[in-house]
Amino acid sequence: MHRIGVLTSGGDAPGMNAAIRAVVRKGIFHGYEVLGVRRGFAGLIDGDIQPLNAGSVADVIQAGGTILLTARSEEFLTAEGRMQAHASVRRAGIDGLVIIGGDGSLKGAFTFYRETEIPVLCVPATIDNDISGTDFTIGFDTAVNNVVDAINKIRDTATSHERTFVVEVMGRHSGFIALAAGLAGGAESILIPESPFDLEAVCRRLLRGVRRGKLHSVIIVAEGAGSAAEVAREIKARTGFDTKITVLGHIQRGGAPTAYDRILASIMGARAIDLLEAGERSAMVGLTGSRLKHYDLARVFEVKKQIDKELYRLAEVLAI
Ligand code: F6P
Repeated sequence: MHRIGVLTSGGDAPGMNAAIRAVVRKGIFHGYEVLGVRRGFAGLIDGDIQPLNAGSVADVIQAGGTILLTARSEEFLTAEGRMQAHASVRRAGIDGLVIIGGDGSLKGAFTFYRETEIPVLCVPATIDNDISGTDFTIGFDTAVNNVVDAINKIRDTATSHERTFVVEVMGRHSGFIALAAGLAGGAESILIPESPFDLEAVCRRLLRGVRRGKLHSVIIVAEGAGSAAEVAREIKARTGFDTKITVLGHIQRGGAPTAYDRILASIMGARAIDLLEAGERSAMVGLTGSRLKHYDLARVFEVKKQIDKELYRLAEVLAI
């Protein structure tokens, strides 16, 4: 193998640049030529590919977003789109790809591998943390810290006005961001799609809190569990409390990656190169406990990643 391509795909995640940097520099260290594909799979289809050198990734480790740009390519979902992508890969003389992205991107990569046998090494990067085979995905830690930072600020107003705030966070169909940020931010209730909830019980907790002297309450709702507007409407109707909403939106995905995300991205990106070197053809790098492992891509999609139910219960207990 002489020439490898690297791309970022799907929603940007803080730490993607650190992963690109690791892939490029570790690749160069092993004697590869490294090409950057712009705009994810869309750029692969269009042949938007350029050589990268050690200097191309200077001064990016601290930057959010992705210097390679990213996209959610509808065309890559079609066999024709993937054929065009394959043609670009051949034209560019690429022998293997490193794909940095979330669940949808990894599935796309696996399909591409099965159809073309071009080796694909995947680095899980999404703020949602919804990929099995790894405890953490690149970007999750930064997003959780962004949410906690927002909760801290919201608390100032919540306390001063003795209000209830419902904060809606991202996560698509999963509640990993909501649970981690809710626990770290001391939320009164955390509503996630993985666990059925009863708004009557949420209101009972709020009323109990007020009786024991709480000046405010913060409720976190994962976007996959419902909308802040609906939840706030119900709470107001059932309790009469002054209830405000904050939808954090894309602010969660932005900003400089935390040190944790930079380290995770660096070790995962570098390991992807090691795996290509070792002859792996379709695998994802993952962190289990404190150990870096890798899994065949087919296995990654076999099981849905589960929420830590004990952590969820603990967050409830600590919020009494
Ligand atoms: O997958 C990351 C994510 O931020 C999800 O949490 C969210 O549902 C989605 O992307 C939003 O996508 P977009 O930025 O394309 O609107």
